[in-house]
Amino acid sequence: MLKFPKDFAWGAATSGPQSEGNFHKPNQNVFDYWYEKDPAAFYDGVGPDTASNFYNDYKKDIPLMAKAGIRSLRTSIQWTRLMADVDKGIVDQDGVDFYNNVIDCLLDNGIEPYINLFHFDLPIDLYKKYGGWESKHVTDLFADYAEKCFELFGNKVNNWFTFNEPKVILDGEYLYQFHYPLKVDGSAAVQVAYNINLASAKAIARFKKWREENNSDAKIGTILNLTPAYPATNDPEDVAAAEFATLWDDNMYLDPAVKGHFPEKLVKILDDANVLFDSTPEELQIIADNTIDVLGVNFYHPERVMRPSVSPDSLQDWMPDIYFDNYEMPGRVMNVDKGWEIYPKTLYDIAINIRDNYGNLPWFVSENGMGVSREERYLDDKGVVQDDYRIKFIKDHLTELHRGIEAGSNCHGYFVWTGIDCWSWKNAYRNRYGLIRNDIHTQTKTIKKSGQWYEKLSENNGF
Ligand code: NOJ
Repeated sequence: MLKFPKDFAWGAATSGPQSEGNFHKPNQNVFDYWYEKDPAAFYDGVGPDTASNFYNDYKKDIPLMAKAGIRSLRTSIQWTRLMADVDKGIVDQDGVDFYNNVIDCLLDNGIEPYINLFHFDLPIDLYKKYGGWESKHVTDLFADYAEKCFELFGNKVNNWFTFNEPKVILDGEYLYQFHYPLKVDGSAAVQVAYNINLASAKAIARFKKWREENNSDAKIGTILNLTPAYPATNDPEDVAAAEFATLWDDNMYLDPAVKGHFPEKLVKILDDANVLFDSTPEELQIIADNTIDVLGVNFYHPERVMRPSVSPDSLQDWMPDIYFDNYEMPGRVMNVDKGWEIYPKTLYDIAINIRDNYGNLPWFVSENGMGVSREERYLDDKGVVQDDYRIKFIKDHLTELHRGIEAGSNCHGYFVWTGIDCWSWKNAYRNRYGLIRNDIHTQTKTIKKSGQWYEKLSENNGF
């Protein structure tokens, strides 16, 4: 049996916009706005308006999650639900009451709340008025909003996070057109990466002040989706391509968050290409002074990388992928529904990288999971999804994680994505990830076989 360390956190992750629904709130975020404008952009035309109805159902959903062995829940506050006016920072009492009630309900059910402040849900007004994350002013508005959250809920939340997967904001909004505003602008993407790192550090600065004034021992961190890149061959050109991919996709966020500065190699490459972000010494100092206490790692897949086929001269505008191409590795195991490689060993590599190169700081798996389409195929005659593939996926990843912990990596939790099947951005409900099935036509929620198994896993602290 693989036993995990004492007090290991067995959890699940979701986010406000993907679970709550009830989107007629004072403000719209980019997804609410985009869905109203263009429902056809979303799989089956399903948007975030209902999601998994957590706004109305949380009193039933939370005990059900507890029954599936979920002892910690990571979710996010929607900026647009908490605030009546996002620009002036005036709170909306209904939003405050809702999040207070959710946190209380979690605690009443023995579930530790892990609260994230930003999960892709930029208020559309801040995009229209200021250009969203392209604007440094928005980094201050974010810090104001974060401080409000600490003041409102800090007495009962011990685990805070500033951002979820900043890399996806760049990829979706500024490079590969899967999040609104669907731009293709490499140099804006570089500035957005910088501004998000700055916004995170500014929020952490407010948190540290709040923590000191309130004698709290709560912790703050950020959540990164790490996709370490393995080169196709040992040829120096492939190795350099993989090194750039890791710098760009992972270390551009990991280094400022943990070490307080951007990787020098990356800064040089961006500078040579004339796309270096605009920064000031004061801002760089804020980043240096406000590193994280704890890191959340979302892990799904590695990258397979080789030398680039495109010559930089043939491109009009700078794009990061002029430095690398991806390649198909024969024989690799794929999740065909999602199109992602399944390679659990990378989780061990991440554990060792954090141990050896990032001061062995405390970290946890803040997301890991398997998206599968048409899961009703696997319903048995009692209405339970027989998702043995998901149990195997989790076991295989936990085995590698356990190896990393045995080797001394400081990992203290595993959060599956997700508890209850939830809405996934453009893919809506195409792929299901939950331990609990949600029939979205009736909003009936039923624990899957994996949820029954997860309950034993967390009860036994291992498998
Ligand atoms: C990462 C994101 O944080 C989450 O929003 C998304 O739905 C899952 N991964 C699954 O792709």
